[in-house]
Amino acid sequence: MRPGKPRRRGDTESPDHLNARGASVRYSGPVLYRLYQPDDFAALYALEELCFHPPHRFSRATMRRLIAQPQAATWIAEDHAQIRGFAIVEWTLDTAEPSAYIQTIEVLAQARGQGVGEELMRHIERSACAAGAAVIWLHVDARNDPAIRLYQRSGYQAHGRRADYYGQGTEALIFAKALQQEPSPTSI
Ligand SMILES: CC(C)(COP(=O)(O)OP(=O)(O)OC[C@H]1O[C@@H](n2cnc3c(N)ncnc32)[C@H](O)[C@@H]1OP(=O)(O)O)[C@@H](O)C(=O)NCCC(=O)NCCS
Repeated sequence: MRPGKPRRRGDTESPDHLNARGASVRYSGPVLYRLYQPDDFAALYALEELCFHPPHRFSRATMRRLIAQPQAATWIAEDHAQIRGFAIVEWTLDTAEPSAYIQTIEVLAQARGQGVGEELMRHIERSACAAGAAVIWLHVDARNDPAIRLYQRSGYQAHGRRADYYGQGTEALIFAKALQQEPSPTSI
């Protein structure tokens, strides 16, 4: 955990709960992956409200601050001009080992299970790698099985745990992955 940083969240609403709100459509078709634009904020935050309950939900102010950091990238997954998911990564380069940290990744319940999360992971990793990060890491609620599977499938390895990170009795697992710098065209 980083002192002064917002905690990463753990508890989520289940897809079944979201479906119970009446949205039964599953989204398919080509999904566009692009960087965040200021006009996206309302829809992005609506997804935050669907995915997380207080106290794990970021406030609007925190979310705006995370997105606006100069050393960060927010990727959007969009389908039919609707936001289906997003992910925020930030990086720190003034250390012995430049690193990146995943603040959040969120996919609309009806759009899960179609590879959107995995593709968002690829995009934030590429941004972090292009910025110069050598390693990327994250916290995840030890009970969040879908997220843990996504990280493991994406090549992340367990690097310890933090007791009570998400509140009394709720531990975080730490996952990390080395980032491979892509060869520049001149070095081929
Ligand atoms: C964690 C989360 C981001 C994963 O997003 P996702 O878009 O469902 O992720 P993927 O589609 O890449 O993978 C999910 C599953 O679908 C499967 N899948 C992916 N593409 C598929 C396809 N075309 N057909 C069938 N299954 C597919 C994956 O293999 C994976 O299966 P598994 O969970 O059994 O391993 C999503 O569950 C979520 O938003 N959760 C709430 C927020 C949260 O907890 N975020 C993480 C902490 S901040």
